[in-house]
Amino acid sequence: MNPLFEKSVYVARREALARKMGSGLLLFLGNNDSPMNYPANCYNFRQDSNFIYYFGLTAPSLAAIIDVDNNRTILFGDDFTIDDIIWVGDQPSISTLAAMVGVTESMPMAKLQDYLDQNASRKVHFTKPYRFDHQITMANLLKKNVNEIKNFASIELHKAIISMRSIKEAREIEEMEKAADMAYNMHTTVMHNTKVGTTEHHLVGLADGVANGEGTGFSFPIILTQHGEIFHNTDHNVALQDGKLLLMDAGVEGLMNYCSDKTRTYPTNGKFTQKQKDIYEIVLKANMEGINLVKAGTPYRDIHFAAAEIVMQGLKDLGLMKGDVKEGVRLGAHALFFPHGLGHQLGLDVHDMEGLGEDYVGYNDEFKRSDIFGTCNLRMARHLEPGMVMTVEPGIYFIPKLIEMWRAEGHLADFVNFD
Ligand code: GLY
Ligand code: MN
Repeated sequence: MNPLFEKSVYVARREALARKMGSGLLLFLGNNDSPMNYPANCYNFRQDSNFIYYFGLTAPSLAAIIDVDNNRTILFGDDFTIDDIIWVGDQPSISTLAAMVGVTESMPMAKLQDYLDQNASRKVHFTKPYRFDHQITMANLLKKNVNEIKNFASIELHKAIISMRSIKEAREIEEMEKAADMAYNMHTTVMHNTKVGTTEHHLVGLADGVANGEGTGFSFPIILTQHGEIFHNTDHNVALQDGKLLLMDAGVEGLMNYCSDKTRTYPTNGKFTQKQKDIYEIVLKANMEGINLVKAGTPYRDIHFAAAEIVMQGLKDLGLMKGDVKEGVRLGAHALFFPHGLGHQLGLDVHDMEGLGEDYVGYNDEFKRSDIFGTCNLRMARHLEPGMVMTVEPGIYFIPKLIEMWRAEGHLADFVNFD
């Protein structure tokens, strides 16, 4: 199990959540071990982030109820038997785990169904299950059709959780700083070992070693590639070639599950060509000026557009784009080269709280998601608030198929110098 904050932290968070919700049963399912290729050979365990936030415990096969009306909080789980203990060693009992995070009641997992049955007339709030086993479990517990269970998730609970998790406590930022330092070590380890002829795969292994050795592993599957224009390229079985750029977009999940997310791009042979440098400098400017604009009260969408204008102006100066920059960005012309959003909230998830719905996390009544190509991928548009933590990650990419398509269609031809 990972380290915990003081138990008063979890008690205070649960009390605040109960106050926000006002009434009902709040049901949290912790994650289970997930088999990879046979039942006993599982993927690395990762606890659900809402469960970590309110209950801290990073052991599998736990559940919890906050009964708001009766002022009770109960942890559900099964004590290890001697058959378990001979394989995994002695483990704390469920009541001990509960006490570690300030929960005074615990029950065997089988009692969860009884508790819900006895309260069948009451409103049960739960978050949208993103794991298939949870969809089945939740449907069984609440006697609903498994194919429809997601529709019964509580938007009210989603919004209450988002309002809390969006505003990071100082102790959370401290953990994120540690995860950022781990990512620094990971990136510089890779940089120092980058040389023509070595394989991307080898560098991924070095990064993995740092991420696992210092934290709990990568905060998302590493992107390390000489084809940065393929956003989620996971094919690393290639050697580094002379004259190429290497892009590494990777972060570490720290020991308390807080994430970092950094991207760096540099030449495989240690020296930029003029062309590479020209593009690199534009992205760096968009990055630095974007970071300078991050402050409470500013809509993140404005920062995205400011970065997009820097990208478009830079490409215009190089002769790749043309026309009015503000108008081009408004119409989405920059997205030929910068088709993703500027960034997202960062926290216990690398795309923080994305499991609760991007539109609830990054949008609201005032900010609706755009339907323009590129701009529609922006994960966060609304006003920044004190305590939020954002990534700022602009980029310029040359995606041959996309360029061919726009050119063939004459799409936004007033803003792109296709020749
Ligand atoms: N930096 C990777 C991502 O945000 O998906
Ligand atoms: Mn990111």
